[in-house]
Amino acid sequence: MIKKGIILAGGEGSRVGPSTKAISKHLIPLGDKPIIFYSLSILMLLNIKNILLIVKKQDQASFKKLLGNGKNFGIKIKYIIQKKPKGLPDAFILGKKFIKNDNVALILGDNFFHGQGLIEFLNNALKNFNFGASVFSYNVKNPSAYGVIEQNIKGIKFVEKPIKTKSKKAITGLYFFDNNVSKLSSKLRKSKRGELEIIDLLKLYLKDKKIKIKDLGRGSTWLDTGTSKDILKAGNYIEIIEERQNQKIACLEEIAFKKKWISRKLVKSRIKYYGKSEYSNYLEEILNDDK
Ligand code: G1P
Repeated sequence: MIKKGIILAGGEGSRVGPSTKAISKHLIPLGDKPIIFYSLSILMLLNIKNILLIVKKQDQASFKKLLGNGKNFGIKIKYIIQKKPKGLPDAFILGKKFIKNDNVALILGDNFFHGQGLIEFLNNALKNFNFGASVFSYNVKNPSAYGVIEQNIKGIKFVEKPIKTKSKKAITGLYFFDNNVSKLSSKLRKSKRGELEIIDLLKLYLKDKKIKIKDLGRGSTWLDTGTSKDILKAGNYIEIIEERQNQKIACLEEIAFKKKWISRKLVKSRIKYYGKSEYSNYLEEILNDDK
């Protein structure tokens, strides 16, 4: 079981410059809501209510303005500052006190997951999780942009952004870890690009045969928002689905309200707070449908 989650929302976002010069990439819009809403919604849908958000110092005030302590979404958000982008495993070093003796999920603040049955699939993995690590793979055309799972008769290998690979299986930005993760992360050395690599952490779990790899399958969607083009493409996907179904992806108040984590009154106050917007109109509809 996992009840704690970390969202890593540091990083320079330089590939989305100049848009990210004055604002965190995770706060720029994807569809009609900030990028961070999507990863946060996944943790909420997995019933993870205890969340640590890792941000850059200069962004902390903006994140707090947007998300506060999580009360408005029926969850608990704590913040911690990452002074420099030191790589994904740094999340577990910074988050050591937060993790304590528990298992933890890590989701990258710029990853987008969607699909029928996806939450059920992830929930199952989460409920059955007791030790080691779990990663989720996904078929992509451009594996060289990601950490990759290579498999042959000798076994499994993890490679970070291989120039050439026969594998199409990328490792997505959602990971489940047991409470050894902080200790193991502290043992890692910086890679050539000067960061701690998640792949090196996963290799430690693989060596001990304590890693599970689950494929998300073609019925699920995993997109990333690394570049401006990626953001535009993901935005189009979201717009098409939301427009067709008249249902929003990653509407945090909707998720919290339907889970009975927040009251009707609170949703009403959020509608007021957001002001005239499509998002507010949608929340009105949610309340009307619930009568
Ligand atoms: C990171 C990880 C990579 C993983 C990817 C998922 O890449 O290093 O293994 O596949 O996230 O989004 P980065 O965001 O640093 O390019």
